[in-house]
Amino acid sequence: MTEAWWRHSVIYQVYVRSFADSNGDGIGDLKGVTGRLPYLADLGVDGIWLTPCYPSPQYDHGYDIENHTDIDPAYGDLDDFDQLVAEAHRLGLRVLLDVVPNHCAITHPWFVEALAAEPGNPARERFHFADGDGDAPPNGWRSMFGGPAWTRVPGTSQWYLHLFTPGQPDCNWRHPDVPEMFAKVLRFWLDRGVDGFRIDAAQGLFKHPELADGDEPGADELTRDAANPNAWNQPEVHEVYRGWRAIVDEYAHSDLGDRVLVGEVTGLAQAHLADYVRADEMHQAFLFDLLHVPFEAGEYRRAIDRGLALAAQTGSAPTWVLGNHDTTRVVTRYGGASLGAERARAAFLLLAALPGAVYVYQGDELGLPEYIDLPDEHRADPIFRRTGGRQLGRDGCRIPLPWTSEGTSYGFSPDGAQAPWLPQPPWFAAYEADSQQADSASTLRLYRDLLRLRRDLELGLDTPLTWLDQPPHVLTFARGDLVCLVNTGPDPVPAPDGDLIVASRPWTSAAVPPNSGGWWRMTRSRPRPARLRR
Ligand code: GLC
Ligand code: CA
Repeated sequence: MTEAWWRHSVIYQVYVRSFADSNGDGIGDLKGVTGRLPYLADLGVDGIWLTPCYPSPQYDHGYDIENHTDIDPAYGDLDDFDQLVAEAHRLGLRVLLDVVPNHCAITHPWFVEALAAEPGNPARERFHFADGDGDAPPNGWRSMFGGPAWTRVPGTSQWYLHLFTPGQPDCNWRHPDVPEMFAKVLRFWLDRGVDGFRIDAAQGLFKHPELADGDEPGADELTRDAANPNAWNQPEVHEVYRGWRAIVDEYAHSDLGDRVLVGEVTGLAQAHLADYVRADEMHQAFLFDLLHVPFEAGEYRRAIDRGLALAAQTGSAPTWVLGNHDTTRVVTRYGGASLGAERARAAFLLLAALPGAVYVYQGDELGLPEYIDLPDEHRADPIFRRTGGRQLGRDGCRIPLPWTSEGTSYGFSPDGAQAPWLPQPPWFAAYEADSQQADSASTLRLYRDLLRLRRDLELGLDTPLTWLDQPPHVLTFARGDLVCLVNTGPDPVPAPDGDLIVASRPWTSAAVPPNSGGWWRMTRSRPRPARLRR
């Protein structure tokens, strides 16, 4: 393929804490990831994105960073990291890191210094400290994870801003030290050979200089999305990404080729999202529509058209997402173990046929449902506590993976290890990877088949997608001589003419059953009329 690698790659999201535990402390780690890289190469993905594994007090499981250029001892050390990258590259896998620029941890040396300093001391200017209004915070902004976005410095009139948990103070991007540090952080990891970065809460960073209340100061808390217009998406942010693009472009001439920026940009209208993927900013931004729409052909088609239009308008590549560590698992969103599982398989079959990049969240290839009944005493996501249990939070999609039917924690940890950091339900046994490898009807094998075919048929390339006439609730499109059809309706529908090359599940009739889909290669039965010579 001649297009740049990131335009069509399938990237597997590794939630490090829950992927594989090598040393038996019940927490996933980098050696665990390295040990399982052959599994990922065999699955047929092109690379991995590692969620934050830097030193962190873990108020938000690593999205609160104490030191941006080291590895948390719970996950290993820099040598382990280097080995992971070397092994990944040896297997032909790219490695993306998570960079979190909007905030750091309260244990970051800058924040420790700021807290120890008096109000008005320059050390506080790297963050947003402000005087409260009597006993009330400086403004009415609410945190994304529930509660006020401000925490009072004990015994003083000053408060600090945190759009997420109080453990994650927001950096003041108008202070020159902040952009300077992050530029160094990018170079540190680029020099170590990473292929790019996923940028966390990328629409954040700058706040409106007056920190004024918007019309609905509580909107963020209600929607868990970047709704407050004064807290997010300030125009100055684009200068940062232009600078970052220039940095990664400096590295594009090594053997690795392009190093990329992929943004987690949430809560914005399409027009604003487009600004983030202009030619001199990020390469890509996740398309999150499919996380929110139901399993319904019309909704899918609109989401796909929006994604394709965004890419065409900006020159970016579509970046499809069906699941991640912040969202209820796709099987559960689509109706749970049986119905939801069928639909999730059909949905991935659809995704794999689309042009652009695809992100796969760990465990979705096993068809894992959400662990909804996780007992409250085990819930570790700050969202659960900060909303007083009104929102269950994200633990249910972050349960340590089941690898084998036997052994401690289904092979997540070595035998005799401590219990995993979040308990696995007994029904996880039915989803473990080893048995799925051996079962040609498993979800894992379907993923593997689809990813092989996608690569062989070069479906990720930016070649046209043509919608075909379709009855309601059916989605059909052609890519060259391949036709993809997904039936989201209640009745069987006629299969396209042609040879079925892969199906989301086996069926015996001539029709495609509900909640299923397939790919067909069109046979040109009727010779085309000869073209007149001009
Ligand atoms: C992003 C991450 C999420 C994290 C938040 C704060 O949305 O995906 O997991 O909690 O940012 O960093
Ligand atoms: Ca471990």
